[in-house]
Amino acid sequence: MALYKEMTTHMIGVGGYLPERVLSNDELSTMVATSDEWIRERTGICQRHIIAKDQYTSDLGAEAAKQALQDAGLTIDDIDAIVVATTTPDLIFPSTASIVQHKLGGKDFPAWDIQAVCSGFVYGLAQVDGMMRGGMFNRVLLIGAESMSRILDWQDRSTCVLFGDGAGAVVLEARESDPNHEGGMIGSVLHCDGSYRNLLMAKHSHPGAVPGEDAANLYIDSAGVAAVEMKGNEVFRVAVTKLGEVVGEVLDKYGIKQSEIDWLVPHQANIRILQATAKKLKMNQDRMAVTVDRHANTSSASVPLALNHIYREGKLKLGQLLLFEAFGGGFAWGANLVRWSKD
Ligand code: ACO
Repeated sequence: MALYKEMTTHMIGVGGYLPERVLSNDELSTMVATSDEWIRERTGICQRHIIAKDQYTSDLGAEAAKQALQDAGLTIDDIDAIVVATTTPDLIFPSTASIVQHKLGGKDFPAWDIQAVCSGFVYGLAQVDGMMRGGMFNRVLLIGAESMSRILDWQDRSTCVLFGDGAGAVVLEARESDPNHEGGMIGSVLHCDGSYRNLLMAKHSHPGAVPGEDAANLYIDSAGVAAVEMKGNEVFRVAVTKLGEVVGEVLDKYGIKQSEIDWLVPHQANIRILQATAKKLKMNQDRMAVTVDRHANTSSASVPLALNHIYREGKLKLGQLLLFEAFGGGFAWGANLVRWSKD
């Protein structure tokens, strides 16, 4: 007799939050030597949302979580764990997840952060899914939340035009697997190759924090300022290659044909990267969730925000197959497959 029931992870609530302040390309052009035309042509971005002075990443995450809980018809008392994917935590410690838990009025259940930069949500989904299949939790709030504007050099036009702030959240529920009712998480693949670490990074703001041979040139900035640094065109090239590979890999792993995918829900870095992945999958762009034009790159928040966008537009139908993918600093990248099981 089996000791454990076979469990499947389902998405039962979806939410998102964007700070009120919108920064258009035109306004940005008054701050650095750029133009609406350049930004649109190279990236597809038209505007981004910027966090208010008195807001933190945890505030964005908590707002997205409230919407996801409401959508699921649940309260914080129904939740067993909170996981926040972020690369812009409120503090070095405690975790942003513990702050979100407090802001939501939750008590005495596990809460922790995941740091996989733009792939944080995809990594988080893979991790939580594994834990839920193993019977560890019944309901988990998984949040991607970022205030990227706080770690940008606003005088560096090659990076500051690319990012925005926001948060997305899902409520995940473990249900006993039912062979008659297909649905829920199918599985994931994750990758990281740290040899690319120098191409995309933000140095540590606390000099001396990381000992070791790489510390002097990788993590410690003499001015003690954290800011995104990126070799954009090299990141672009590797991103297109790795994303093309990883979507093929996850489909092969789970025996699914390209033609079966109903929705591509990609990390939103650059419309040209999104289009390259859609082309690789031979998918029409109307089957791809696109928010990069309005949100820019919100790092770990971008996949759940893109999901929230198509969900709230009523585009997701029971039984549809969704492919999530992301690529970012590390480089870390990955993909998840989900069969939509929410009415
Ligand atoms: N406005 C006007 N001109 C600009 C700007 C700007 N904002 N930024 C750069 N330029 C100039 C450059 O100085 C350069 O000028 P030059 O030819 O006189 O030297 C020219 O535009 C071309 O620059 P490139 O960097 O070669 O432009 P490219 O076509 O590669 O586009 C971009 C740059 C948009 C950054 C692109 O490379 C890209 O999207 N890269 C990937 C970013 C990404 O995917 N990040 C992923 C994850 S982020 C994360 O993990 C946190």
